[in-house]
Amino acid sequence: MSIRLGDAAPDFTADTTEGPLNFYDYLGDGWGILFSHPKDFTPVCTTELGAFAARRGDFDKRNTKLIAVSVDNVESHQRWKADISETQGAELNFPIIGDEDHRVADLYDMIHPNASDTMTVRSVFIVDPAKKVKLTLTYPASTGRNVDEIVRVLDSLQLSAQYPVSTPIDWKDGEDVIIAPSVSDEDAKTKFPKGFRKVKDYLRFTPQPNK
Ligand code: BEZ
Repeated sequence: MSIRLGDAAPDFTADTTEGPLNFYDYLGDGWGILFSHPKDFTPVCTTELGAFAARRGDFDKRNTKLIAVSVDNVESHQRWKADISETQGAELNFPIIGDEDHRVADLYDMIHPNASDTMTVRSVFIVDPAKKVKLTLTYPASTGRNVDEIVRVLDSLQLSAQYPVSTPIDWKDGEDVIIAPSVSDEDAKTKFPKGFRKVKDYLRFTPQPNK
């Protein structure tokens, strides 16, 4: 059964490159990103893991832990880690789950048999501090993900968790946001003291409230 937005993220205990861990304990009271890799020693995955490792500081700033899963064992991941450092210029600084038996991949419906019986697709799950799934992304094995986009969505999710706002098309951190329709103009004046611009009754922009 696929995982939908708002579902509780399935918890699990697994062996990883940083030792055995429990997913919920690893996330603690922060945000988390679980993402899958079709297989070890594959080229696109190698570039992705290097890029996520290089951007670890951006995730730390957002109180967000990274954890990857690949359907090979931890011993294989450890050997792959050396290649990632050598070729991508970044040391892997978050755990990769050993998932030879596909336990985590199955729990998160990461294997799509019409794409491949054995390899996962490239899934991304963003989990909030209440352990609810806030974002799912699915890419084919042949397309590498985009770290900027994942950070951008995280910023949007964290903002709308804190304020009654949503973010428009192509929004980036620092740009104007949209006031939720549930907020009256009267309430908007107090909730958004920087003011707002009303284009339509249902379309009101305000400067990003936490900047
Ligand atoms: C890759 O990471 O390069 C890859 C993995 C599985 C299938 C195709 C590409």
